[in-house]
Amino acid sequence: MNNIISTTCLFLLLLPLLASCTKNKQVYLVEFEENTNGEKTMHEIENTHHSYLRLVKETEEDARASLLYSYKHTFNGFAALLTPNEANNLSGMEGVVYVRKSERKIYSLHTTRSWKFVGLDRSFDPYEEKSNETNGDLLAKGKYGQDIIIGMIDNGVWPDSKSFSDEGMGPVPQKWKGVCQNGTDFDSSNCNRKIIGARYYLQGYESIYGPLNETDDYKSARDKDGHGTHTSSIVAGRAVPNASALGGFASGTAIGGAPLARLAIYKACWAIKGKPKNEGNVCTNIDMLKAIDDAIEDGVDVISISIGFPQPVKYDDDVIAKSSLQAVRKNIVVVCSAGNAGPGPHSLSNPAPWIITVGASTVDRSFVAPVNLSNGTIIEGRSITPFHKENIFRPLVLANDAEYAGITSANSSGYCLDNTLDPIKVKGKIVLCMRGIGGRLKKGLEVERAGGFGFILGNNKTYANDLASDLHFIPATAVTYENTLKLVQYINSTLNPMAQLLPGTTVLDTKPAPSMALFSSRGPNIIDPNILKPDITAPGVDILAAWTAEDGPTRMTDNDKRVVKYNIFSGTSMSCPHVSAASVLLKAMHPTWSPAAIRSALMTSARTTDNTGNPITDETGNPATPFAMGSGHFNPKKASNPGLIYDASFNDYLLYLCNLKLTQNISITYTCPSPLPQPFDLNYPSIQIHKLNYTKTIKRTVTNVGRSISVYKFNAKPPKEFTIKATPSVLKFTHVGQKRNFVITVTKSRDELASESDSEKYFFGWYSWTDKYHVVNCPVAVSFQ
Ligand SMILES: *[C@@H]1O[C@H](CO)[C@@H](O)[C@H](O)[C@H]1NC(C)=O
Ligand SMILES: *[C@@H]1O[C@H](CO)[C@@H](O)[C@H](O)[C@H]1NC(C)=O
Ligand SMILES: *[C@@H]1O[C@H](CO)[C@@H](O)[C@H](O)[C@H]1NC(C)=O
Ligand SMILES: *[C@@H]1O[C@H](CO)[C@@H](O)[C@H](O)[C@H]1NC(C)=O
Ligand SMILES: *[C@@H]1O[C@H](CO)[C@@H](O)[C@H](O)[C@H]1NC(C)=O
Ligand SMILES: *[C@@H]1O[C@H](CO)[C@@H](O)[C@H](O)[C@H]1NC(C)=O
Ligand SMILES: *[C@@H]1O[C@H](CO)[C@@H](O)[C@H](O)[C@H]1NC(C)=O
Ligand SMILES: *[C@@H]1O[C@H](CO)[C@@H](O)[C@H](O)[C@H]1NC(C)=O
Ligand SMILES: *[C@@H]1O[C@H](CO)[C@@H](O)[C@H](O)[C@H]1NC(C)=O
Ligand SMILES: *[C@@H]1O[C@H](CO)[C@@H](O)[C@H](O)[C@H]1NC(C)=O
Ligand SMILES: *[C@@H]1O[C@H](CO)[C@@H](O)[C@H](O)[C@H]1NC(C)=O
Ligand SMILES: *[C@@H]1O[C@H](CO)[C@@H](O)[C@H](O)[C@H]1NC(C)=O
Repeated sequence: MNNIISTTCLFLLLLPLLASCTKNKQVYLVEFEENTNGEKTMHEIENTHHSYLRLVKETEEDARASLLYSYKHTFNGFAALLTPNEANNLSGMEGVVYVRKSERKIYSLHTTRSWKFVGLDRSFDPYEEKSNETNGDLLAKGKYGQDIIIGMIDNGVWPDSKSFSDEGMGPVPQKWKGVCQNGTDFDSSNCNRKIIGARYYLQGYESIYGPLNETDDYKSARDKDGHGTHTSSIVAGRAVPNASALGGFASGTAIGGAPLARLAIYKACWAIKGKPKNEGNVCTNIDMLKAIDDAIEDGVDVISISIGFPQPVKYDDDVIAKSSLQAVRKNIVVVCSAGNAGPGPHSLSNPAPWIITVGASTVDRSFVAPVNLSNGTIIEGRSITPFHKENIFRPLVLANDAEYAGITSANSSGYCLDNTLDPIKVKGKIVLCMRGIGGRLKKGLEVERAGGFGFILGNNKTYANDLASDLHFIPATAVTYENTLKLVQYINSTLNPMAQLLPGTTVLDTKPAPSMALFSSRGPNIIDPNILKPDITAPGVDILAAWTAEDGPTRMTDNDKRVVKYNIFSGTSMSCPHVSAASVLLKAMHPTWSPAAIRSALMTSARTTDNTGNPITDETGNPATPFAMGSGHFNPKKASNPGLIYDASFNDYLLYLCNLKLTQNISITYTCPSPLPQPFDLNYPSIQIHKLNYTKTIKRTVTNVGRSISVYKFNAKPPKEFTIKATPSVLKFTHVGQKRNFVITVTKSRDELASESDSEKYFFGWYSWTDKYHVVNCPVAVSFQ
C-alpha cells in the first residue's frame, strides 16, 4: 500500500502535477525518546528536526517547507507535513518513539454567543470587597502585577486600545525572552511595556482550512473579532475612565485585575472560513501546542486559556491538558475556562488537576428594561439595547399570530425565525418572540425586516429566570418564563393589547449575586471521577472590557456596522481571566508559591454565600452545588492570606498519572513506583468520591503559610447520609512552612442505603480547618456504589 502511494507520487513528481502528490501529505507528529532539549536553543532544536526530515525528503527545500513546528517543552518532537510513506520511514529511525497523524482536534473560544455592550461599574473589579483599604493592600503588595508576565492563549489583541497603554510603566522584566512578531497591521511598534510580546500560529489552521482569507482575520497577532482583546483587558487592562459607549448606558472606569501586569499575546485561534462570525473561531491542536510551548520558553508566569474542546476529553487526547502539565512543571500557573455547555451534567472542559478550572457567575448589576402594559402593569425585562425612538404605546402581538400563512410548529412557529413574520401583521408593532430556537439577535433582525417596531424575547420553561441582556438592533427586552406567560395571557385576554418598551437603565447592588450562570459547565467530572471540578467561579456574565475597533459588538459582521471601544461579553471566557488576574497578584505577593499553592489559596478562601448572606444559587434559584461553583466565588483578598495550603508538586502529578496509567500516553518518561498512592490521594483542596462502598480514607497534607504558631481545628458539614472525620482533628504548627498530614474518613451513615444506590446521584458537604483568623474550606462530593 505504502509502496503504491510512493510510486504514484514519484511518478507525479516527474510531471508538473505536484498538487496531487501534496494531497497525500498530512500533518504528523513525530516524537522522540529522550527529551534533551533542556539547554538547547529553539534554533538548534529546529536543526535537529530538520536533519530527520532531510532523510525522508527529496530536497533541502522540501524538508524545510514540511517542518510546521518544532516543540521544546510541551512535546518532545515536531509537527510536519508527510506522506504516509515518509511517516513510515521516519518511524523506523533510531530515537523516534512514534509518528502519528495529528488528529483534527478543533478547540474553540469559550464565550456564549451573546455579544453585548454597555458601560462599566465597580462590580467588574475582581476585588469585590467593599473596603478600598484592603483592596489597595492586595494590589499594592502585588505591585499591581508589574513584575508578572501573563501569557494569553487566544485570538490576538487590539493593541491600539487605551487599555493597553504603557504610560508610566517600568522596564520590561529582564527574564522576558519573547518577541513581537511582524504581520498584517502589526509590527514591533504595536508592542510596548504593557504588551511585551505577540506571536501568531497559523500552520495548523492552514493545513486544515487552506490559506487564511485575510478578509476573515488578520495574518498577525491583531485581534479582529474582540475576544482576545476582551480577555486580555480583563486580566491586565489599564484604568480607562468613562469607558461607556453606545447609548451611554452606564459609565465608569474600565480596569483589569492586575493593571500593571505584562501581557504576552499568543494568537492560536482564527476565524473559520465561510462560516458566520458568530459561530466562533477555531484553534487547532498543533497551533495551541506551539503557542503554549513558546509561552513557556518566553518566560511567562501565568497562562490564561479561555478555550476548550466541545466535549469532555481525556488528558492524553487534550493538548491543553498535556501542555499545561509541562507549564506547571516550570512553575507556571495555568488558568482555564470550564466551558459554556451547562447547565447539564458532565459538561466540563479542562478538568485536569494541574489546571485551575473556572466556572462563571453573575455580578450585582442588572440592565433593567421593563415593559409597560396598557392595563397599568409593569413587566420586568433586561436589555442593553439603547434606543431613542419615541417609546410610545404600540400594539403588542404574539409571533404565532403574526406569521405568514403556512408557518406551523414544523417551521418553529413563534420563534421569529428568518422569513416567518408577515409584514401586514407586524408593521409598527411590538412582537413577542420565543427564545430557544434561533439566534436572539437575529430575531430582532426578522422583526425589523417585517417592519415591526421592537420585540420582547420570552424565555421558555428551561431558561426560566436566565435573562440575556443583549445589544439588539431594534428596541427590545428579555423577560422570564413566568412573565412570558403573563404577556401571552394579556394578549389573549385584551381587545387591543398595547405595550411600551421602556429604555434600559443600569441597576447596581442587585440581589442575589453572585449566582451561577445557566451556561456555566457542570460536573461531575467524567474524565477522572476522583477529582472535583470546576475549582472556582468568578464573574462571567455581562462583563465590560476592551474591544477591537473592527468588528461590530455583536460579532454579526454582515449586519453590525456599529464600532465600539468597549463591549460586554458573557462566558467562562470572561471568568477565567478574572482568576488569572488574581493568580498574577498572588504570584507577585508570594513568589515562592507553586501553581498548586495558588490554586489552593483561591479555592479554600472562596465565598459560598451571596450578597443576601444565603448560599450562592444556580439558575433554578436553588443552592448551587460544587459541581457548578467548585469551592465557591473567588475572593482574592482572602486568598492572599489563606492560612494553610494544599500543595502539590510536578512529581505528585506524575504519581497521579501513574495511577491512571497515563504517564506514557502523556509523553512523560517516568518510572512509576510501587505501591502507588491512590488517585484520590492527590493533595487536592476538594474531595470527590465516586461510588463509595461503605467507607473511604483519604490522605491530605497542609502547609502552614499563616502565623508561625497556630492551631487549627477540624469542622465538617457532611453530605446527607454520610459522616466525615479527620485524624488528627487538631493540627498544631510551630513555624511557617511546616507540613501536617491528616486523613479524612468518609463513611456511609446507614448501611441499607446501598440498596437505594444511584451512582450518578451525588451528595455534597464541606470540611474545614479553622484557627482564629482563617477558615480553610474544602467541598466534598460523594456518590453511592
Ligand atoms: C528511509 O528512506 C531512505 C531513502 O529513501 C532509505 O535509505 C532508508 O533505509 C529508509 N529508512 C527506513 C527506516 O525505512
Ligand atoms: C477608602 O479610603 C479612604 C482613604 O484611604 C478612607 O478615608 C475611606 O474610609 C475608605 N473607605 C472605605 C469604605 O474603607
Ligand atoms: C518587522 O517590521 C519592521 C518594520 O515594520 C522592520 O523594521 C523589522 O525588521 C521587521 N522585523 C522582522 C523580524 O522581520
Ligand atoms: C475571502 O472572503 C471574502 C468574503 O467572504 C470572499 O468574498 C472572497 O472571495 C474570499 N477570498 C478567497 C480568496 O477565498
Ligand atoms: C466622564 O464623563 C462625565 C459625564 O459624561 C464627565 O463629567 C467627566 O468629566 C468625564 N471624565 C473623564 C475623566 O473624562
Ligand atoms: C406606564 O404607562 C402608564 C399609562 O398607562 C403611565 O402612566 C406610566 O407613567 C407608565 N410607566 C412608566 C414607568 O413609564
Ligand atoms: C413549513 O413546514 C412545512 C412542513 O414541513 C413545509 O411544507 C413548509 O414549506 C414550511 N414553510 C416554510 C416557510 O419554511
Ligand atoms: C427551551 O429551549 C432550549 C433550547 O432550544 C431547549 O433545549 C429546551 O428544551 C426548551 N425548553 C422547553 C421547555 O421547551
Ligand atoms: C392564547 O391564545 C392562543 C390562540 O391564539 C392559544 O393557543 C393559547 O393557548 C392561549 N394562551 C393562553 C395562556 O390563554
Ligand atoms: C394586566 O395584565 C396582566 C397579564 O394578563 C395581568 O397579570 C395583570 O394583573 C393585569 N393588570 C391589571 C391592573 O389588570
Ligand atoms: C494510551 O494510548 C493508547 C493508544 O492511543 C490507548 O490504546 C490506551 O488505552 C491509552 N491508555 C490509557 C490508560 O488511556
Ligand atoms: C464493598 O465492601 C465490602 C467489605 O467492606 C466487600 O465485601 C464488598 O465486596 C465491596 N463491594 C464491592 C462492589 O466492591
